[in-house]
Amino acid sequence: MIQKTIETKVTVYTYDELNDEQKMLIDKAREQVTKAYAPYSGFRVGAALMLENGEIFAGSNQENAAYPSGLCAERVAMFYANAQYPDVPVKTLAIAAFTNGKFIETPVTPCGSCRQVLLESESRFNTGIQIFLYGTNEIFMLENVKQLLPLCFEKNSLTQ
Ligand code: THU
Repeated sequence: MIQKTIETKVTVYTYDELNDEQKMLIDKAREQVTKAYAPYSGFRVGAALMLENGEIFAGSNQENAAYPSGLCAERVAMFYANAQYPDVPVKTLAIAAFTNGKFIETPVTPCGSCRQVLLESESRFNTGIQIFLYGTNEIFMLENVKQLLPLCFEKNSLTQ
């Protein structure tokens, strides 16, 4: 028997340590929480992404009285961007969440379904999507979606 260990590399930043472009994307994700439709959970999420061509897209979670019909902020932003620019890879994604009257202290991490959708966009273009997860105490940076979804099932898994 052998045991394998899978490691995820997370770089932890403070806001002041980020460059202007990274700050701008996090600011956009923070802004987006004001546009969330989250009457059921009260958990407002904003996502902002930058494409390789510099275009920026943002989204927020959109809930529904029939709960599973709602969609997370990450998927709203990602599908929106990929639908407008089907040939342009996503370079960077930032996510922020606001609940109980304040931004959360510890970064929100995307749900499993969002990870799978983000992975599809990453493998579709064969690039890494850098991810910033915003919290007021710390900001996590992951170099690509695979860091969030080890042992993943993706495009290449179908052709082995
Ligand atoms: N949500 C997101 O939009 N993104 C996440 O990363 C986690 C959860 C939304 C879904 C739902 O509208 C609310 O937050 C509570 O789960």
